[in-house]
Amino acid sequence: MGEDVTAFRSSIVKTFQPLQNLSGGFGGGQGHLSHLAGTYAVILAIAMVGGGEAYELIDRAAMWHWLGQLKQADGGFRVCEDGEEDVRGAYCALVAITLLGLPWHLPDDSPARAGGVTDFRDGLGKYLSRCQTYEGGVSAGPSNEAHGAYTFCALACLCILGSPRDTIRTYLDVEALVRWLSARQYAPEGGFAGRTNKVVDGCYSHWIGGCWPLVEAAVQGSIESALSLDEFSTTRLFSGEGLTRYILGCCQAPSGGLRDKPSKRPDAYHTCYNLAGLSMSNHRHEYSDVPDPGSNLIPWTSKRNNMFADVAEGSPASETEVAPFQPVYVIPHMAVTRLSQWSRSNQVTFAS
Ligand code: FPP
Ligand code: ZN
Repeated sequence: MGEDVTAFRSSIVKTFQPLQNLSGGFGGGQGHLSHLAGTYAVILAIAMVGGGEAYELIDRAAMWHWLGQLKQADGGFRVCEDGEEDVRGAYCALVAITLLGLPWHLPDDSPARAGGVTDFRDGLGKYLSRCQTYEGGVSAGPSNEAHGAYTFCALACLCILGSPRDTIRTYLDVEALVRWLSARQYAPEGGFAGRTNKVVDGCYSHWIGGCWPLVEAAVQGSIESALSLDEFSTTRLFSGEGLTRYILGCCQAPSGGLRDKPSKRPDAYHTCYNLAGLSMSNHRHEYSDVPDPGSNLIPWTSKRNNMFADVAEGSPASETEVAPFQPVYVIPHMAVTRLSQWSRSNQVTFAS
């Protein structure tokens, strides 16, 4: 929402420092086993507050080694040692590897090496293909039910593995995916549900909503040419107006914060993901295959939707606007660029 969060840098470092384990990764609380969900949240929070003091907290060599214990011979990742393997684990691991500039090759003692896997990316695309269900969405693991959160995680992984035009089209059935995603938006509410036969919930404004920019990047240009429109028009594959109405009209709690639906209490999780959905709806994100020599890393740019072009600063409508975010990491573009550049220019030794 445009707030300067750098003021939280010292308290973030103080809070997270005791959660880091010597064997690599962060636990969800002090004394907890390292877990990819908590580790991912810590890395994103550190990226957002920014600065060397925050970045240096992370022991990247230990992190790389720990991730090596989680990679599986079938291409996926466990979320913690001896824990479950799911698509969320793969996404959290890829976020850590790329933001922290960790090597792609596996440490020598990674158990996945026994199955012939030598690189964190090995087999991942095929594993994600096996997670796409007959409905078209992606499930936690092969043979589970398609769900919005795992669908986002799978698409974001594919966008990290390569250009979405190549990876998403290679590993997923895009037509079935678009059909399933489209069916997650309901009338008259306008919001999204996470899976078949469920009701709308504000957090899927991101888990389902966040899939759209990634799918749009995979089919960029195709919709415009099919409909004879100018390239990069504002045509979307979902109703932005419906989603915006649901978020603003139903998910804002009178006490402040955002919620799943009227009758539910607001919480940090639903506040975060309703706002992410609102931002997604208000912006177009474009992927460029040509690396930008300035940032050279993650080639995504965001533009305000034309529907907001004539909104004057300071008007009531402009108060409902939220800043754009990088669509794969779902934090501000600069937070992604700064941490990934810092990681690459402050290399450490990654010894197996
Ligand atoms: C169903 O809960 C929810 C799930 C099966 C998984 C939720 C997964 C995430 C939110 C992904 C987390 C991702 C990262 C990156 C940490 P439910 O049955 O209460 O909800 P539903 O009825 O809406 O499906
Ligand atoms: Zn929810």
